[in-house]
Amino acid sequence: MDELVIRGGGPLEGKVRISGAKNAVLPILSATLLADSASLIRNVPHLNDVTTMMALLGRMGVQLTVSDKMEIEIDPTMINDYMAAYELVRTMRASILVLGPLLARYGRAEVSLPGGCAIGSRPVNIHIDGLRAMGAEIVIEGGYIRARCGRLRGTRLVMDTVTVTGTENLLMAATLAKGETILENAAREPEVVDLANYLSAMGAQIEGAGTDTIRVQGVDRLKGCPYSVVPDRIETGTFLVGAAMTGGRILVQDTCPHTLDAVLLKLQEAGCHINTGEDWIELITNGNRPKAVNVRTAPYPAFPTDMQAQFTVLNAVAEGAGAITETVFENRFMHVNELQRMGADMRIEGNTVFIKGVEKLTGAPVMATDLRASASLILAALAAEGETVVRRIYHIDRGYERIEEKFHQLGADIRRTTD
Ligand code: EPU
Repeated sequence: MDELVIRGGGPLEGKVRISGAKNAVLPILSATLLADSASLIRNVPHLNDVTTMMALLGRMGVQLTVSDKMEIEIDPTMINDYMAAYELVRTMRASILVLGPLLARYGRAEVSLPGGCAIGSRPVNIHIDGLRAMGAEIVIEGGYIRARCGRLRGTRLVMDTVTVTGTENLLMAATLAKGETILENAAREPEVVDLANYLSAMGAQIEGAGTDTIRVQGVDRLKGCPYSVVPDRIETGTFLVGAAMTGGRILVQDTCPHTLDAVLLKLQEAGCHINTGEDWIELITNGNRPKAVNVRTAPYPAFPTDMQAQFTVLNAVAEGAGAITETVFENRFMHVNELQRMGADMRIEGNTVFIKGVEKLTGAPVMATDLRASASLILAALAAEGETVVRRIYHIDRGYERIEEKFHQLGADIRRTTD
């Protein structure tokens, strides 16, 4: 199994280009199922989750052609199977995103229930209840969601929790439903907006994406089209925190600064100078140690849960003390034990971790537990004295493209080895 060996201590310096967003490309690939013809999806990041989604579509009979630039032509017209099997869903919860498109376009779907995962129980009741309210008949049998419908009917849906993939599933389903669907308490994440932009480019009638009320007028058909995926705001934030922690200076290119407002504010509060342009962000520390910050995660536009682990590590080496409160997932502090093994001074109370910054972390063998926790361990290793070996990095390959190459380009001493 692959491991990352990192010798920390030096500042991150230089330029890095950001890839397409994992959490935008996964719903967009699912949405290609809604069309009557092929789409060409560009700026696709080379990630294990993307490979899993392609395998899922491929098994349904969807034709996929990948160019060497990672542009994927996807032709759904030969589909002959409507199932997402447990063995794929188990490795990637976002497989649930094929449920809405399959039902809306083909009137049938069989999708394994994702079950729990490392960061919490993560139910999908809102996806299922919403589709039922639109006319689908759904039974849960043998661990599978088995769903059938005639043409879905538009209706008003009030989601009682803000859910990103729930909003996306129902939005996709609504595009081909009969009449108007109103999604209330919708997720406002930039990835929802990117999906809505792709759906609109295919001919969907959508208003209000990016607000908490999305209105969709169902249309009879959608036509495949070319579309380029939005840059990854979490990858962007991860590199920025790396520079902030190591007293570095970096220029992050091909990104989308306005999707990172809450994160950039916290980095400024931590003492970093931030300059932005249309598609770049520069972070300057002047070699200073960051100041500890308090963070509370919540749905967009508030501070993202997917940046929580990285800021926990920032506080671990910061001047002063900070508290990080996680309100989105109940069990997203698994990195804390590993960080303590590297010398971090932190304690968990309920859904808050209290952190007192230390002058230096020290390298240690550590184990990655989920995607963003793994990213935080790499950041800790980059700032630590001595060598750190990060094990189980298959988690990181799910969501970060060529992470060691990109950190290496910023001057980090990092290499991948195979056991
Ligand atoms: N929830 C319900 N019922 C539902 C759906 C969600 O109670 O039917 C609850 C969840 O248990 C959770 C909260 O709602 O407490 C929010 O979960 P959400 O549904 O928004 O999460 P998700 O859609 O499964 C996406 C991202 C996650 C990201 C969250 C929150 C994708 C593919 N995944 O997950 O990304 O953390 O939104 O922003 O878009 C990651 O990239 O590392 C990652 C975990």
